[in-house]
Amino acid sequence: MASSAHIIFDDTAERVATRVTKMRPSAVRNLFAAATRDDIISLSGGMPDVSLLPAAAVKKATRAALEESRPQALQYGSTDGRVETRAVLCGLMRDIGVRTKPEDLMLTSGAQEALDLIAKTFINPGDIILTEGPTYLGALQAFSAYEPDVHCVPFDAEGMRMDLLEAELKTIGAHNPRLKFLYTIPNFQNPGGVTMSPARRRRLIELANEYGFMVVEDDPYGRLRYDGGHVLPLRALSDKVVYLGTVSKVFAPGLRLGWIVAPAGVLAKINLVKQGTDLCGSAFNQIVVEHYFTDTPWQRTLQKFVSTYKVRRDAMLTALDRYFPPEVTWTRPEGGFFVWVTLPAYMDTTSLLADALEAGVTFVPGDGFWPDGKRGRNCMRIAFCYESPENIDEAIRRLAEVIEDQLELYRAFIAAGAIREDVEM
Ligand SMILES: Cc1ncc(COP(=O)(O)O)c(C=O)c1O
Repeated sequence: MASSAHIIFDDTAERVATRVTKMRPSAVRNLFAAATRDDIISLSGGMPDVSLLPAAAVKKATRAALEESRPQALQYGSTDGRVETRAVLCGLMRDIGVRTKPEDLMLTSGAQEALDLIAKTFINPGDIILTEGPTYLGALQAFSAYEPDVHCVPFDAEGMRMDLLEAELKTIGAHNPRLKFLYTIPNFQNPGGVTMSPARRRRLIELANEYGFMVVEDDPYGRLRYDGGHVLPLRALSDKVVYLGTVSKVFAPGLRLGWIVAPAGVLAKINLVKQGTDLCGSAFNQIVVEHYFTDTPWQRTLQKFVSTYKVRRDAMLTALDRYFPPEVTWTRPEGGFFVWVTLPAYMDTTSLLADALEAGVTFVPGDGFWPDGKRGRNCMRIAFCYESPENIDEAIRRLAEVIEDQLELYRAFIAAGAIREDVEM
């Protein structure tokens, strides 16, 4: 065979829609290839450890879908999703303090599809979206297809800064029709790891009422809490909030099952848009989820997830305290999967990643979590969900060495007056 199969002539470049040319590939997806090398310890992906799922429970749920409900499982379903599945998910919502009925919910292909559907339904080019800065890069990817102007509000250890949000809102103006929504991940934020305090949640709802904007609450990690008490979701404080849930982190991401809780008017519009996207989600997967959350000891499995991730989170925080140099700071998450690390302003984590890969460690450079890709260059997201405590300790030790090597170099430059300490490179 000639090797011409490798030469790809792309004559479509000029025909591609402007919105696609503006989209950036996900740094995490690009890293997945490297992360599967045997010698690499991956701190990059936010992948749940599905090996913790009891095989018997998964088999039971899957077999029930095939044996008890085969005709429905293999058929098209309604765009909103099976009412039985939605009723089961209402039970999960009740556990976290939110009262819903099946008609308040729509099922989606993971929370990711929900982000795309909401963006497709509401955003015109140039519309304003508010988010935490940095924020989940998959949300930025989903939004960017519809060309919004994303304004980022910084967070601290108590979540999004409400004083800075209010200042931003004053500039945008009350009831500005161009402000489409505020997107937030209040629990164990991705990538920040921080949780919005109850007081700030109340303030956010007050501001949403005062300035007239919609709040989109993305909550994939809320049930993975390792310290402290449960904090009520924003949706429990206001039924105008659009809440996104998913089974990805409490069951399995391979099922691709998420849901939207929203006011009827919002759901009706999203329903229209979803019809054009995929007609309906997978009934088979919906039935598996239904059985998993009714016929298996899923709460015990969730406890196993929580206790395992807690040990890994502790291993990471202990290793950071032990190995990382004093110039570096990081967040201390009470749950979820991620720690956000900030290096001195003059450092660049994308170039650091090349050295880290050589040392056998991956992480996600910080710039991907900003809409312009320019901020966060001295930051990185490290995930503790997937590797063993021993591997996490080893990865942080190696990463500390790589950082220390670069710091040495910069210290020499700073001493020689070649660069300033407070300047981002
Ligand atoms: C904040 C956030 N939202 C949404 C998603 C997407 O989740 P799903 O697997 O349900 O599509 C993720 C996945 O990691 C996430 O971290």
